[in-house]
Amino acid sequence: MKLRRCAVLYIEPREELAIDWKVVLSGGAALAAKSHWVALAPHLDAELTIDAEQLAALGGLSQTVWSERSAAEQRFGEACIAGLLEQGLLIGDTPQYAVQRERDDTLRATHWRPLSALAHTFGRWRGVTEETGMEAPSFQALLDRYGEPPPPTFDLGEGDAVKLPAAAAGRMDEQLLQRYTGRNFDTQASVPLDVAARLLQRTFGAQEVRRVGPHSSVLKKTSPSGGGLHPIEAFVLVQRVEGVAPGLYHYHPVAHELRPLRALDAEAAAQLARFMLADQHWLSTAPLQVVLVARMERSFWKYRNHQKAYRALALDAGHLSQTFYLLATEAGLPAFITAAINDADIEKTLGLDHLRHAVVAMCGCGPAASGERTMVELRYGETDAL
Ligand SMILES: Cc1cc2nc3c(=O)[nH]c(=O)nc-3n(C[C@H](O)[C@H](O)[C@H](O)COP(=O)(O)O)c2cc1C
Repeated sequence: MKLRRCAVLYIEPREELAIDWKVVLSGGAALAAKSHWVALAPHLDAELTIDAEQLAALGGLSQTVWSERSAAEQRFGEACIAGLLEQGLLIGDTPQYAVQRERDDTLRATHWRPLSALAHTFGRWRGVTEETGMEAPSFQALLDRYGEPPPPTFDLGEGDAVKLPAAAAGRMDEQLLQRYTGRNFDTQASVPLDVAARLLQRTFGAQEVRRVGPHSSVLKKTSPSGGGLHPIEAFVLVQRVEGVAPGLYHYHPVAHELRPLRALDAEAAAQLARFMLADQHWLSTAPLQVVLVARMERSFWKYRNHQKAYRALALDAGHLSQTFYLLATEAGLPAFITAAINDADIEKTLGLDHLRHAVVAMCGCGPAASGERTMVELRYGETDAL
């Protein structure tokens, strides 16, 4: 049997601090630090504790060239190699290790920049709720806890400043100046079908399909996209859209269709929204919600092992979100965007693979509960009008 190290592996020396009472009682320093090695491998999606022998073996075996297991065992010991194979940090070429090998091969084939794969994999949430850490602090609570924040802007080169004329009125002003993040959605109101259709088509839809090769095409959308590849897909969670049954859909940007993935009753759709939004009940009542999912395989086809590729995915999602906000504003609807989502759980719900797809953010919109408009968020869910 042959083996090699997994493709991407980072090792973190992790420290635990504890009070050593024995030392304290004998007059020594109170804090004791204990370290251990943690192996972070994106294809495994789990943090694994390893010992110094395993660390040496991982450093001594190639991630590219396959070695004989017996030779590795001679160098590092049978138990050490068996443990690493079991954990999936070493990849074996026999059917027994096929699952880990498939994950490792997928990571290799997706052309990830290793640090980006690490940040992506270990930045995901599962099962986060208000109890387990989804905080909704007021601005005042933040001030109490952290003191004054840094000033709202840079204040550079004041003496040489070029005074600019006031911004002239323009045709986009209405949307730009009325846009705000809604956190008080009317739980009975629906989004009219024509509004939902325009919102989806003008944000996520293809305004044009351009053929660029015998079997390849690129889409033109209303937002810019890194490399023109538009790797972000829109999965739509319908709670209350006129003429559309509650459920999960994929919005097809060329066919301009909502393709059903899972039918839900109103209650189940509401619960799913709240779960996906990590318990943010101030957002989950929005009748139309969109999960923004990046297809790394599309983006990394061009940006192979690229330092900036992962950042570009977040920028793409940000552009789409602002377009969504402005179109919602045009329709008189407040909107929201959030990255505080249970992305690892959403992957399961949508049948996605985190090595090939990133659930980047969720946005949504709907009629506000009261006619009152809020401009500055003082507390999530309890915004005060200016
Ligand atoms: C990347 C990003 C993440 C955000 N995350 C949240 C969030 O988790 N919960 C929330 O209620 N609002 C969230 N917001 C909305 C901001 O809080 C909001 O844009 C900000 O308070 C300014 O208010 P405005 O959009 O009404 O101008 C997010 C906005 C952005 C751009």
